[in-house]
Amino acid sequence: MITLGMTNLCNIDGVLKAEAEASVPILDRGFLFGDSIYEVMRTRAGFMFGWREHLLRLTKSAEGLGFELDLDTATILQRIGATVQAAGNPESYVRIIVTRGSGSAPNIDVAYATGPLRWVVMVRPLPTLAPSARLQIIDRLRNDRRALDPAVKSGNYLNNVLGLAEAKAQGATDCLFLDAQGKVTEASTSNVFTVRKGKLCTPPLQVGILAGITRALLLDFCRTNGDEVAEVDLTADDLLTADEVFLSSSLRDIGPVTHINGKPIRDGLPGPRTQRLLTSFAAFCDRRAQTLDGPEMARLRLRG
Ligand SMILES: Cc1ncc(COP(=O)(O)O)c(C=O)c1O
Repeated sequence: MITLGMTNLCNIDGVLKAEAEASVPILDRGFLFGDSIYEVMRTRAGFMFGWREHLLRLTKSAEGLGFELDLDTATILQRIGATVQAAGNPESYVRIIVTRGSGSAPNIDVAYATGPLRWVVMVRPLPTLAPSARLQIIDRLRNDRRALDPAVKSGNYLNNVLGLAEAKAQGATDCLFLDAQGKVTEASTSNVFTVRKGKLCTPPLQVGILAGITRALLLDFCRTNGDEVAEVDLTADDLLTADEVFLSSSLRDIGPVTHINGKPIRDGLPGPRTQRLLTSFAAFCDRRAQTLDGPEMARLRLRG
């Protein structure tokens, strides 16, 4: 039975379930092979922030895995909305997972996928993240674009799982992956930015990273404000000698980095530019959720 106000709720193929009672079949290809895609979003004042961008990226991830989403936007939004509403959290963490569905046998060949796709929406209270991060530049490399392309947000995150574990074993809170050429890519679940002499820099998408929605919004926000920003290749040394370093992601917005490889960035405190940006960007996101994302979602759900 579902009671209003529960905090951890799931919606599996349209059916609401308490998270503790939710399960997927053992032959689901997401479970067997990580043959799935996902998105993580959050609410702001109850509105689904950036839902259009997240659903667009979900569509691209599906393309990357060679399947097509089989639900229309109105149905996806209806499921998300119903689950968020039933959970009744002050602010919600929302994870959408789409797997290639069940197979007729535990065989990696997609010919065994009998379909349909499996759609899961997980809703939890929005977690509070640590106010700053200490990064470790790890030995493990980010996946090559010609292997499992980091631009595809697939359910196969094992390289990131192990990268994070490697960094934590060395006393850091997150990892920073380089690519095979020694270029900076990203952290386990965030994009990375530097500030040097007032200019913001972040690695270009071509290096092989997830096209972060926060990263894109932040680049737009800064350009609109007339700030100097650049998408350029960065080395480990660029990070270690930067004036400031920060991470960006949907759950943290902007997360100051205070240490890399155990060494402080500047004085080892969140940088002043980062902190100013953190406040102004959060205000921009709150406004956008209320004036754009919320009303558009309501319109589409009514039409759907
Ligand atoms: C590897 C990776 N990079 C970057 C991000 C940040 O992306 P977004 O800003 O869309 O949350 C994520 C988010 O989960 C991620 O997993």
